[in-house]
Amino acid sequence: MKIYVSMDSAAKAVGADQVAEALAAEVAAHGLDAQIVRTGSRGMIWLEPLVEVDRGAGRVAYGNAAPADAAGIVAGTAPDLGLTEEIPFFAAQTRLTFARCGVTDPLSLSDYEAHGGLAGLRRALGMDRAAMVDEVKTSGLRGRGGAGFPTGIKWETVSNAKADQKYIVCNADEGDSGTFADRMIMEGDPFCLIEGMVIAGLATGATKGFVYLRSEYPDAIVVMQRAVELARDAGVLGASVLGSGHAFDMEIRVGAGAYVCGEETSLLNSLEGKRGIVRAKPPLPALEGFLGKPTVVNNVLSLATIPVIFEKGAAHYSGFGLGRSRGTMPIQLAGNIRHGGLFETAFGMPLGELVNGIGGGTASGRAVKAVQVGGPLGAYLPVSKFDTAFGYEEFDREGALIGHAGVVVFDESADMLKMARFAMEFCAVESCGKCTPCRIGAVRGVETIDRIAAGDAGAVEVLEDLCEVMKDGSLCALGGFTPFPVMSALREFPEDFPVVREAAE
Ligand code: NAI
Ligand code: SF4
Repeated sequence: MKIYVSMDSAAKAVGADQVAEALAAEVAAHGLDAQIVRTGSRGMIWLEPLVEVDRGAGRVAYGNAAPADAAGIVAGTAPDLGLTEEIPFFAAQTRLTFARCGVTDPLSLSDYEAHGGLAGLRRALGMDRAAMVDEVKTSGLRGRGGAGFPTGIKWETVSNAKADQKYIVCNADEGDSGTFADRMIMEGDPFCLIEGMVIAGLATGATKGFVYLRSEYPDAIVVMQRAVELARDAGVLGASVLGSGHAFDMEIRVGAGAYVCGEETSLLNSLEGKRGIVRAKPPLPALEGFLGKPTVVNNVLSLATIPVIFEKGAAHYSGFGLGRSRGTMPIQLAGNIRHGGLFETAFGMPLGELVNGIGGGTASGRAVKAVQVGGPLGAYLPVSKFDTAFGYEEFDREGALIGHAGVVVFDESADMLKMARFAMEFCAVESCGKCTPCRIGAVRGVETIDRIAAGDAGAVEVLEDLCEVMKDGSLCALGGFTPFPVMSALREFPEDFPVVREAAE
């Protein structure tokens, strides 16, 4: 018998360690032939701590387990949810990037290989650099950090650049509200990210990589550091990757906790030991990045999707999706939602289906009022836009963005004027201070929204003007995208802005 308990920090936060201890004590007390395996999370966060027991006929799930349930789970008398893979939330997914997460022991390289790990890297080692870049271009993979820039074109720019040293930098500074996919993959399948970075190095001629990991993710830091050591010991990293003669090594660097360090040039400054302020582009990091050398800066999910593209082929990956949004997206359902968790699916599912069908509506049971997609810089979407398909262009057409695919749900008790104020305040607090529209504009924005709240009708036009200036004049997405949540709140929810509502009446 094998018993699986997640060691993902979301599971640990609700007592998974104590449940695992109680299960181990129960097994020992009865002298049973049972092994307890700590895995990553299956992504059904509302069911954590989730225990799975395999008695030879698949993994049977026990949700919201407590230490007191250990005896019943081991004996098989506790109420169960059936096979994990048949739970509707799980069965409806297409898991490509997250195929192993929750299945394998995150720090067992042999378990990784037994579930398809390193197959992509082995295939890549038989290809030349141009063919590897072409494979990524053909897959249609676009940057999963939020901007959606084609990953293959970014790699091509770095591959074609002439330099004595190039770098792969993984952006693991996951700071968007409602997002946890990067953390989940780093805690649950770290070798997948490492394999993706090695392939990126081979394809571009970079021999050194860094994962810039936020300090707020202590468990992910420990798991990634250990995984890098194990990969080095096994020859996956080092002077000759899997005996190929190609060198690639990497290390984990921990950020100090600033939202703006998720912006790639600010991240590079921080990685170089400088203050995390944004650099003007051009030059692009692909040409002058870390220490002025050509650098691939990719999000965790972009790099962790590379192994499956090489394992199954670009055509297999690009066979999923909608329009120019190819493949799958690990969507994170959060906020006031009944079934919060990670749902990986091909692009194209309507937003309403994700929130009400998959997510089960609000946790509070009240009606949904708004959904913010794409982090604190994403627009607030009303229920009337629930038929919008999940895709880059489809959201863009609605004045919204999918960003890093965090979906935060609000019920009818939310006050959208307060949410607009929060967006401006967030920008004012997190601004790196380099450019005026953001540094000063966000502070004036908070004051202007306060004037609107106090009944000053003339302040609405000022806010609209200010948002235009921030959108057009800011150096990076923090100042440039803050108008999205602010203006969408004003436009879509005028009932929460008394002066706007009165003017319309
Ligand atoms: P961007 O559009 O300026 O750049 C996208 C990427 O493409 C960058 O890496 C850029 O260097 C690269 N690039 C552009 N042209 C290139 C070329 N010709 N060759 C090679 N590379 C090229 O977008 P930016 O400012 O990097 O990101 C903005 C996005 O970040 C927003 O859409 C937002 O959703 C997202 N975001 C994500 C967060 C997270 O926690 N994941 C937090 C905050 C924002
Ligand atoms: Fe810095 Fe804000 Fe300007 Fe970005 S928009 S460079 S965060 S001041």
